[in-house]
Amino acid sequence: MAKTKTVFFCQNCGAQSAKWIGKCPNCGEWNTYVEEVIHKDKKESKQAYSITSDKPHPISEIIAGNTLRIAIPDKELNRVLGGGLVQGSLVLFGGEPGIGKSTLLLQIALNMGGLKVLYVSGEESQEQIRLRAERIGLKNQECYILTETCIQNIFEQAEILKPQLLVIDSIQTLFTNFIDSAPGSISQVRQCTADLMRYAKTTHVPVFIIGHITKDGTIAGPKVLEHMVDTVLQFEGDTHHIYRLLRTTKNRFGSTNELGIYEMTVNGLREVSNPSEVLISVRDEPVSGVSIAAITEGIRPLLIETQALVSTAAYGTPQRSSTGYDLRRLSMLLAVLEKRCGFRLASKDVFLNIAGGIKVEDPAADLAIVSAILSSGEEVPIPSKYCFAGEIGLSGEIRPVNRIDQRVAEAEKMGFEQIFISRYNKKEIPKETRIKVVMVGKMEEFFSKLFG
Ligand code: TYD
Ligand code: MG
Repeated sequence: MAKTKTVFFCQNCGAQSAKWIGKCPNCGEWNTYVEEVIHKDKKESKQAYSITSDKPHPISEIIAGNTLRIAIPDKELNRVLGGGLVQGSLVLFGGEPGIGKSTLLLQIALNMGGLKVLYVSGEESQEQIRLRAERIGLKNQECYILTETCIQNIFEQAEILKPQLLVIDSIQTLFTNFIDSAPGSISQVRQCTADLMRYAKTTHVPVFIIGHITKDGTIAGPKVLEHMVDTVLQFEGDTHHIYRLLRTTKNRFGSTNELGIYEMTVNGLREVSNPSEVLISVRDEPVSGVSIAAITEGIRPLLIETQALVSTAAYGTPQRSSTGYDLRRLSMLLAVLEKRCGFRLASKDVFLNIAGGIKVEDPAADLAIVSAILSSGEEVPIPSKYCFAGEIGLSGEIRPVNRIDQRVAEAEKMGFEQIFISRYNKKEIPKETRIKVVMVGKMEEFFSKLFG
């Protein structure tokens, strides 16, 4: 009789304990411990360590050319992965439900012309996947669909089919026969990922794993898996907007600064190769409260539209609301405007919105945001060919931002006529620019140059 053991796992961070505890000492979450039965099979646990043993080699004698990359037909994903998919790599693809993870990976599977792909789904039936594939376009004849949730059966089928790429949708639906707890629990998720890792490393087949993230932490989020896999990709965006951002949060084979942008269409996801073009709305005449910020996402310069609405507060306490931008930072900017520039905003409601459902963290957007607020407050439109890149300090100084040359180049490429930046960025600006670069040091100076 095999020995059975029960352990309590925190469903949020994966910490384990021999007995139930209310508050996780590791991550501080309450009520996250769930009992899981671990069916210890002596023979099996021995097998887990019997990976082919290797000898140490001097680093100079190891041939680095071995990490072959498979070029993915999707330019955005290719770039985000660091220039192609490394053979034998395990890529975790995380994102909230409904964001488009299954769509993107099915699309990749269907576009991998000539490559044998096995797409394993534990969430949808073959008919559903076929319907979705028809919307996207059935291009790859070598794309196989398997609806299975038992990992041992998946490996059995993979053994027969010998795919060149394996896609798992999703890790939370898989289970291994050797653990008794329910699919989606921490120990199942962890074990299945470890098995997939071993599969990828021994067969050199790259594996994509989809993982759901939920806010309440009831199912095991892919957080605990991040240290196990080679690459972690995060698919984000607002399900009500059409744009989706693909980021790397970890990459053993490339930089984590890359960003991919997609647009959700009726026929699947479309790559957005020139994001600045789509993120700025075209208007015939300038309206007040709109300004363009030259930000960077990772290493990619982007021009985005910031919109502000300032109106008289209907109630005693004025409202401050912000979409796509940190509310505390907005409060700080309002305080700076009030204190350093004498604008009376205490009795005004201020609403801020970043167009396109994009979330901005780059402080270089500050300058555009204050311009939008003032433009709305004073009812003076900002010329549509102006854009801004600068961080605002508490004393009202305009601070320099990184990669200013790229921001200026992007603004120039997009046909802008003037860009306002910090004067401390002066050194990094090329001498000859088609766009007029206006350098400012203080808020007062900025406003007099902008509004005259
Ligand atoms: P899905 O890939 O199922 O999300 P996830 O796997 O991350 O949970 O996609 C969810 C949404 O995508 C769904 O609400 C419908 C939309 N969608 C389109 O807009 N166009 C399409 O061609 C497809 C296939 C999906
Ligand atoms: Mg899905």
